[in-house]
Parts: sequence; structure tokens; C-alpha cells
Amino acid sequence: MEVIQIEGGHRVTGEVNVEGAKNSALKLMAATIMAPGVTTLTNVPNIADVHVMGKVLKNIGARIEVVNEHELRIDTSDVDSWETPYHLVAQMRASTAVLGPLLSRFGRAIVAMPGGCNIGARSIDMHILGLEALGVEFSVKHGNIHASAPHGLVGNTVTLSFASVGATENLMMASVFAKGTTTIDNAAREPEIVDLANLLNEMGAKISGAGSPVIEIEGVSELHPVTHRVVGDRIEAGTFLAVGALTGEPVTVRGFAPLHLGIVLKKYEQMGISVERGTGCCTVWREGPLLPTDIQTLPFPGFPTDMQAQTMTLLALAKGSCVITENIFENRFMLASELSRMGADISIEGHHAIVHGVDGFSGTQVKSPDLRGGAALVMAGLVADGITTVSAIHHIDRGYEGFVEKLASLGARIRRTELPDVDEEDL
Ligand code: EPZ
Repeated sequence: MEVIQIEGGHRVTGEVNVEGAKNSALKLMAATIMAPGVTTLTNVPNIADVHVMGKVLKNIGARIEVVNEHELRIDTSDVDSWETPYHLVAQMRASTAVLGPLLSRFGRAIVAMPGGCNIGARSIDMHILGLEALGVEFSVKHGNIHASAPHGLVGNTVTLSFASVGATENLMMASVFAKGTTTIDNAAREPEIVDLANLLNEMGAKISGAGSPVIEIEGVSELHPVTHRVVGDRIEAGTFLAVGALTGEPVTVRGFAPLHLGIVLKKYEQMGISVERGTGCCTVWREGPLLPTDIQTLPFPGFPTDMQAQTMTLLALAKGSCVITENIFENRFMLASELSRMGADISIEGHHAIVHGVDGFSGTQVKSPDLRGGAALVMAGLVADGITTVSAIHHIDRGYEGFVEKLASLGARIRRTELPDVDEEDL
């Protein structure tokens, strides 16, 4: 079984470049379905989830040329199917991002119901409700969602009950060719939504308001392929900034917009971390102890749930106690039990994690609960006493390109290795 092993206590400092955003690239890839021809995406992260989305597109007839590990040429001229099978949706919930594009191109789609995942049920009821307002009819057969718009998609006003990222994206893409204008109210405002709207507008769409709570899409008749650079990954950047905050020595992260981590950097300053914001980069370091501060995860521009785990690792070593409230997912505190094996003192009460800071972590065997929790455990290993062995690292490979190599380039004593005779099921 492949694991990541870290020997704690080594100096970690230097510079790291982050990749394009996973949570944008996957949707940009799906959007190419609506622009028959060759769209080139650059700054694409070389991660497992991108490879799965590539399989989803090939499965419906797209051809993908890997120009290099960060550049894809996606030819959707001959896309001739509108079905995304269960085995691909089961691998990656984000496969549901093809729902809007397939409806736009074919007026129908068959997408396997996304199962739950480690962090929650993650239904798509808001996607369905919003699409029904645009004239889409749904039925569920044998675990597949059958969507069709027999009379075409018609623009409407949709108010989301929650600022869902995925629902906002699917509705935006499904509205591009709709008759008339669509207004999405209470839309998600994440930078990845803006990146998707930018791509669609470059392709010929007429979308305004992305990044605000009200997005307006005026229907057009067609889109044309383009070349587009994926926005920098603010969560990968935040993860490496959390590493610098944890270890204390200066760490500079390049390739993202510090504005996309606004509240995170403000919270980190409250935690006693020094932050120097640059153009496309940011440096953090720490001279004194980590200080406790309460965290509540919220839709952008609130504190991102995807930075909750990394910040829990920091707060577990703060001088004092605090409360982390997870408002986005119903089960995103699984890191706590693994960190407790390393000596953390965290108790969970519903959506709240009560964190009492301890003096240090002790290295041991731990298991990644999910993508961000896995990264947070590796972080903890950097400052733990002794060796920390992190298993289930396929979670980390889904969203971080070269995570071990980047940490090693900062001076971490870290490696991927095989644990003989141990199967993941045994853990
Ligand atoms: C996206 O997931 C991201 N994934 C997540 O990143 C991120 O945590 C999340 O947005 C919130 O920012 C991708 O972009 C691929 P939501 P998504 O729709 O679109 C519930 C990571 O670590 N909900 O905003 O699924 C849902 O169950 C991943 O990179 C419904 O109940 O997020 C969740 O509890 C993790 N019904 C909450 O809303 C719906 O129809 C937020 O979901 C839609 C969502």
C-alpha cells in the first residue's frame, strides 16, 4: 500500500508555484461540450480528477490531446452521446458538471445519480429544481438521472436556496443557449465561477454578474472554441501558506490571487501569522505562537470549507481554545479523530469542533479521510515528533499535483513509499 512518510522537525522554507484550480478546470473541461471544435486549456493541474473528467469527455466522443502535462486540446466536434455512466460519476461527483452542457448541446442528458462521499450526502436537488425552472423534465431510472428539454430550454429567474457552487455552474451552462434571459439569484460567488463565466463569454456567451449574488445569462445561438488559462488554485495556495504558518519559516506561494483568499489571510493574521500580499503571490511566516480564533465556513467570500481542515491543524497547536463551525458539509470533521491520534485535543459537537491547543504532535500512522484532510495530516507530520505515515493518499492525489515534491523542495523530509503486506482495507 502506498503511503506518505514524513520525518517531523525539519526546517521548511522557500517558494512554491501552485497549479491551475482543480475546481475550475473540471468545469471548464465540461463546458467545451458546448463549443464544437478544439478548445485549448492551459495551466491545467495534472491531477487524478482531471484525468477522470478526461475519461468522461472521451466517453461521449471527445478527443483529448495532452500537449503537455498542463495543456489540453479538447476536440468536441464529434461528441455524439449524452450519457455519463455510474462508474465515472462514482469516481468523481464533479462529473455531474456535464449535465448543463449536455442539455445545452443535445436537449437531454443521462447522468448517474452521484453517490454520497466521505464529506456528505451531496445531493443535486438544487441543480434539478433550477433546471426544471428552465423547462427541463427529470426522471430517475435504475440510479440514473434522465433529463430532457422537449420544448428546448427557456430562460427564467431561479433563486437558489443555498449558494451552491455546482448548481450555479450547471444553471449558468444550461442557460447559455436558452430562449431569452436567465437570472440566477443567490448565486455562488467563488472565483472558479468567475473563471467559468469568463471562458463562456470568450466563447461567445453573454453572461454578466459572475462573482456577485445575481448572475444574468442572455441566450445566444452558438459558442466557438477558444484558448483559455485556468485561474490559479487558491486552495492549493492556501494549503502551502498554512504550511508556512505552521512551521514558522517564510514560505512564498506564487501563481494565484491573494484576493481569492481574503478572509483566510485575515484570519491567519489574527492567529499571529505574518502575511505579505504581492501580485500573484503571497508570503507568510510566524515569529510568535499560534493564537486561537473561531472559524465559520461559509460560501465565498466567507471562510472556504476547503481550507477548514488545514486550519484545524494550525488551531490544534494554538495557545488556547477555539471553535470551528462547518456550515457547508455535514461530515467534514473526520480529520479530528486522526489528528487526535497525533495528540490533538478536539471534540466534535454536531457542526462544531471544539479545539483545545496542545504543545505538539507525536508522529504515528494516520489515514487520509478525504482530500483536504489528507493534506492537513501531512502538514501535521511536518512538525510532529518522529515519523508520521499517512495512508489512503489517493485522496491527496485527486487534488494536489506533486504535493510531496513541492514540500520536499521547501526542505521537508518526506517521501512516498510502499508499506509491504498492508492493504488499505486492513486500516
Ligand atoms: C464544490 O463542490 C467544490 N468541488 C468543493 O470542493 C467545495 O467544497 C464546494 O464547492 C463548496 O465550495 C468542485 O468544485 C469540484 P456545493 P459542490 O454545491 O459544487 C449541498 C474540494 O475539496 N448541496 O456548493 O458539490 C452539498 O451537499 C471539494 O476541492 C445540496 O444539498 O458544492 C454541500 O453540503 C470538496 N444540494 C453544500 O450544499 C445541491 O443541489 C455545498 O455544495 C447542491 C449542493
